[in-house]
Amino acid sequence: MLTHVDIVALALENRMRPAFAGRGYFSAARHRLSSLGTSAIPGAFDLGPNAPHCTADRDAGLVPEGAATVDLPPPVQEAKALASRLSLASKCSDEAGALLRVLAAARPGGRIGVVGAGCGTGTAWLLSGCAPETRLFSVERHPERADAVREMFAAEPRMTVLRGDWELIAADAPFDVLFVDAVPPKHQFPDRIPPLVAPGGLVVLDDLTPLVDDDERRAAAHDPVRAFWYGLSGWAVTEVIVSPREAVLLAARLVTPPATA
Ligand SMILES: C[S@@+](CC[C@H](N)C(=O)[O-])C[C@H]1O[C@@H](n2cnc3c(N)ncnc32)[C@H](O)[C@@H]1O
Repeated sequence: MLTHVDIVALALENRMRPAFAGRGYFSAARHRLSSLGTSAIPGAFDLGPNAPHCTADRDAGLVPEGAATVDLPPPVQEAKALASRLSLASKCSDEAGALLRVLAAARPGGRIGVVGAGCGTGTAWLLSGCAPETRLFSVERHPERADAVREMFAAEPRMTVLRGDWELIAADAPFDVLFVDAVPPKHQFPDRIPPLVAPGGLVVLDDLTPLVDDDERRAAAHDPVRAFWYGLSGWAVTEVIVSPREAVLLAARLVTPPATA
C-alpha cells in the first residue's frame, strides 16, 4: 500500500505537483526518493515563498503561527464552522474530504449519498466536486444537525437533506458514490449497504487506522469493518492512506461479478 508520502514522491518524479503536497510532505518525499535511490526533477522541491502548507503539516506542528494553509472550498468552511457551533467533534478530515471531492467530480450526473451527514463537512466536500447535473442526498438522524445542514444548503438545487434514520436514503438509491459515516451501517449492518449501490458504484468509509506493515495488515484481518468489505464477493476493495493518521476504504461494485463455481 502506498503512503501519502510515496504518492507525493512519485508525483514529483513524474513532474506533477499534488494538490495536498505541503512543505512537510515535500521534505519527507525528498528523503523517501533518496531512499528509493532516485532524485526528483530539478526544482521539484522549489515551492517558492508563498506555497501553502497542507493540513497534515499543520497537525505535525510544521506550520508557523499565522502561516496560510491550503484554502478550503467555501461550503466546507461553512460546514466546519457549523460543526464548531454545534460542538460536533467527529467530522470528516480535510484529507478524506479532498478525496471525496475527487470521487464526486469523477461521476458527473451521478447520484451521490451521505449516510450520517453530521454538520455537513463531507457533504460539502462532495458538493464542491459535483457537476451541475449531479444529485446529492445526505441523511442525518440528529434533528438539530439535520435542520442546520438543510438550512445551510437551502439555496443548492443539487442537494436533498433527509432528517431521520439512515435507511430513509434507500428511497433515493442506487448511488454511484455512497459515503457511509454513521455507526449503524458502518459497524452493525454493513450488509444493508451493497444493495444501495449501482453497478460500478463506490462505497467510501473514512477514519480507518492506516496499516503500514504486514503485522498491522494481518491484525486488521480481525477488524470487522475491513473483514466485511474485503470478504464481499463481486466487489473490488482497497484503501488509500490520506494522512499519517487516516486511511479511507474504497469499495467498488463490479459491473460483471466473477462467476461462482
Ligand atoms: C461521524 S458523524 C458524521 C460526520 C460527517 N459525515 C462529516 O462529514 O463530517 C456521524 C453522524 O451519524 C449520525 N447517525 C448516527 N446514527 C444514525 C442513524 N441511524 N441514522 C442517521 N444518522 C445517524 C450521527 O448523528 C452523527 O451526526
